[in-house]
Amino acid sequence: MLVSATEMMKKARDGHYAVGQFNINNLEWTKSILLTAQELQSPVILGVSEGAGKYMCGYTTIVGMVNGMINELGITVPVALHLDHGSYEGAKKCIAAGFSSIMFDGSHYPIEENIEKTKELVALAHSKGISVEAEVGAIGGEEDGVIGRGECADPKECKMIADLGVDILAAGIGNIHGVYPANWEGLSFETLAAVKEAVGDMPLVLHGGTGIPDDQITKAISLGVAKINVNTECQLVFAEATRKYIEAGKDKQGKGFDPRKLLAPGAEAIKAKVKEKMELFGSVGKA
Ligand code: 13P
Repeated sequence: MLVSATEMMKKARDGHYAVGQFNINNLEWTKSILLTAQELQSPVILGVSEGAGKYMCGYTTIVGMVNGMINELGITVPVALHLDHGSYEGAKKCIAAGFSSIMFDGSHYPIEENIEKTKELVALAHSKGISVEAEVGAIGGEEDGVIGRGECADPKECKMIADLGVDILAAGIGNIHGVYPANWEGLSFETLAAVKEAVGDMPLVLHGGTGIPDDQITKAISLGVAKINVNTECQLVFAEATRKYIEAGKDKQGKGFDPRKLLAPGAEAIKAKVKEKMELFGSVGKA
């Protein structure tokens, strides 16, 4: 059964570890992530961007697929199905479709409008037991057409949004979606500490998990980050493993072209990447 992210976030915050949000793109992605979470007895959050939502034939299709897999694969660890960087309309659709968690990314609105819309979505989501993540200070880089400015969040604005009753807060601290450029200055731990000071107990989210050095991840967790989002890294290892399979001519040997064989190395690569991240984030055995 899907659960909201609220409980797992509180446990992670109190236990000083982080739960991974791994974005899904198709059946193989979802299966690899769920099986790894179960094997490692780790809670997990499946992230769905609006673009990936469209690609997978809409939110109700995804809810059906994930619930089906949880039953058929015997998944017993806590799993949240979470809208990633949702628009106001997208968040409403996911609430209706049966997602257990939503992110409303109102960071591009003026703060007053972000507050109004967040407040409305919190009331609607909470009436159905669904958790809400909000964002202050856009995350840099581009994800599925959503382009952020990479700014650091204003702690006062974080406090205003946190006070609306959201369950998890994404605050920009210099993080960027996608691969970090060579001249990236690293995370702003001063911003993170100031945000933490302003919002107190609120579990914080670190977007753009791909490519952040391990020591910065560990430090961010020690400063209150309870959720870390990873997307691009799974895409890169999937592509790499699939390329190797084809370049080695394995699709031309016997029935190597069978999609169940062709996509297997990529699926295994995702499992290994998710395992590596869960171990780094400290969520293993925390189900
Ligand atoms: P990456 O693609 O950089 O891992 O970021 C994922 C993310 O933050 C999803 O919201």
